[in-house]
Amino acid sequence: MNPHFDFPRNKDGFPERPDGAPNTAFLGRGANEHHQTIDSTNLRAKELARSGAPEGTLVTAEAQTSGRGRLGRAWHSPPGRNLYFSLVLRPNISPERLPILTLAAGLGVAEALRDITGLGLEIKWPNDILINKMKVVGILSEMEMLGAGVSFVVLGIGINVNLEQGDLPEELAPLAASLLIASGRPWDRVEILAGVLSGVEHNYLEIIQGRPQGVLARYRRACATIGSKVRLADGVQILEGLAVDIDENGALVVELSGDGSLLTVSAGEVTLVKE
Ligand code: BTN
Repeated sequence: MNPHFDFPRNKDGFPERPDGAPNTAFLGRGANEHHQTIDSTNLRAKELARSGAPEGTLVTAEAQTSGRGRLGRAWHSPPGRNLYFSLVLRPNISPERLPILTLAAGLGVAEALRDITGLGLEIKWPNDILINKMKVVGILSEMEMLGAGVSFVVLGIGINVNLEQGDLPEELAPLAASLLIASGRPWDRVEILAGVLSGVEHNYLEIIQGRPQGVLARYRRACATIGSKVRLADGVQILEGLAVDIDENGALVVELSGDGSLLTVSAGEVTLVKE
């Protein structure tokens, strides 16, 4: 895999875009890093961000030894098959807007994967991307503040690209899949990465430029959680209800079973209940 997008210059000094390079203005176009093995691309991107790395800096890895997932989980990161990468973002938004930014990025990933592969993808709120109900993409966004504002956001994305069924550990086999497993053919990881960076950048710009309506409308259409019965665990109690909407901050709106009151959920674990 050659994920380096520092393009060669032609005789006039203009960058030449090789096949498979991202069609982006700033994501993945700076001083990127690629590692054969790293603990976690998110940890490395946070280090770079703390030492001043510019917006769009990309850290990729062939394998992670401590790949990190949401809610303190691990992310299965074997070598050579998948994509593991993190982006440094410096959005000029208030911290409360982070959830909608993360939703926009997840939608950008799903839209790019759909356009490249033609596969039917769904999003499980907030950011799991599923094919045939099996998880193929996970996103972990981490924010650091400077005073009352956002210093940086690291957006970490793991995509199961060419993982084979036999590569999945027993506990993930009933839950996870890959583009290869879903389509029956392998995919070029650099092409997937380039397309995904374009998709993420497109939606990111809509949010930071104050135009979230299109992203929200497309997210609601792609979101398998809306209209589903869900179970919520907030660490204290378990509640059930019907997911009815995503609000303008990216939170899930649930009509609770029993009294029918509306609950707005902005974090935590949401399970789709099979009926
Ligand atoms: C989830 O739990 O669904 C989020 C998984 C995020 C995994 C990616 S892989 C690249 C980046 N580095 C990490 O350690 N985690 C994210």
